Amino acid sequence: MKRTIAITTTAFALLGALSGTALAADKLNYYCSAQPDWCDLMAKGFEEATGIQVNMTRKSSGETMAQIKAESSNPKGDIWWGGTGDPHLQAAEEGLTEPYVSPMRGELHDWALSQAASGNDATIGIYSGALGYGYNEEVLQANNLPEPACWKDLLKPEYKGHVQMANPNSSGTAYTTLATIVQLFGEDEGFEFMKALHKNINQYTKSGSAPIKAAARGESTIGIVFMHDAVAQAAAGFPIKVVAPCEGTGYEIGGMSIIKGARNPDSAQKFYDWALTADVQSRSLEVDAFQVMSNKAAKSSPLAPDLDSLTLIDYDFEKYGSSDERKRLLKKWDDEVSVLPQ
Ligand code: F6P
Repeated sequence: MKRTIAITTTAFALLGALSGTALAADKLNYYCSAQPDWCDLMAKGFEEATGIQVNMTRKSSGETMAQIKAESSNPKGDIWWGGTGDPHLQAAEEGLTEPYVSPMRGELHDWALSQAASGNDATIGIYSGALGYGYNEEVLQANNLPEPACWKDLLKPEYKGHVQMANPNSSGTAYTTLATIVQLFGEDEGFEFMKALHKNINQYTKSGSAPIKAAARGESTIGIVFMHDAVAQAAAGFPIKVVAPCEGTGYEIGGMSIIKGARNPDSAQKFYDWALTADVQSRSLEVDAFQVMSNKAAKSSPLAPDLDSLTLIDYDFEKYGSSDERKRLLKKWDDEVSVLPQ
């Protein structure tokens, strides 16, 4: 009797160990920094396609970068999908993400590959989108405000309390805004711009797209966001007008990176290759994600902002995605802009 129990216990222990291995291989810890419904769709889509169980954490780009760094001695994430490219490049430079050359590369636009080249293959471009702003036409009219068309219009005193943007520490959108203004006007004038803008800001949000959602609901007037996020609110029926600022504007190359020390590296590579396919990228249309996809054959919506028709700056991703420059600019914004009275 005793012997039977001993054998059974050993058998169970062995089974447990084996199934433990099998389960571990069938998991993916997925960090997502794109819009929440697209993050969900990707998680569910991958589970359905592969049977791999996905555990998702959704945070803004800067916040995810900070989390990966904080966890680097004991990594908990496997893959980071979405969010602006600058913090993905910073993570690559700091050795927080793992080089990977996907067999899908031949299907991608050059801009997606150039992001990989800048990050020594430890990141890649998954979508692209231009920065701008949007405003609620009804709230603007109700407040007798003129229609803004340029970046510099946002500095006019009549917009005091009417403009919202995210905090560039947490949000990739807001960091792209800071880096764009510095590249457009030069660093000194760019920081004067950010200080003057600060006087008109009603709130710095955590997430990059929150300012246009607030404008859509009529809780704010103007939101500085990626144009595709403003288009999404207009497409949902809100009275949002999308502006491509007259001086020209910056843009993002959204990133994907495998986290160094991932506990489930095979699952991470599977997700990476799967996420670069045209079919999967075309599913962005199901959730009104209006970015331009990195797979050349992916479908795009007629509502998506046409990047070729916009005046885009030659955004220096290597410089503004470098660890030193990103840290320096954020510290300068914290020290010189965010502390000012409004
Ligand atoms: O809402 C989608 C999106 O604008 C992406 O295009 C972008 O990469 C991401 O959000 C940035 O979010 P955040 O500013 O919150 O980091």
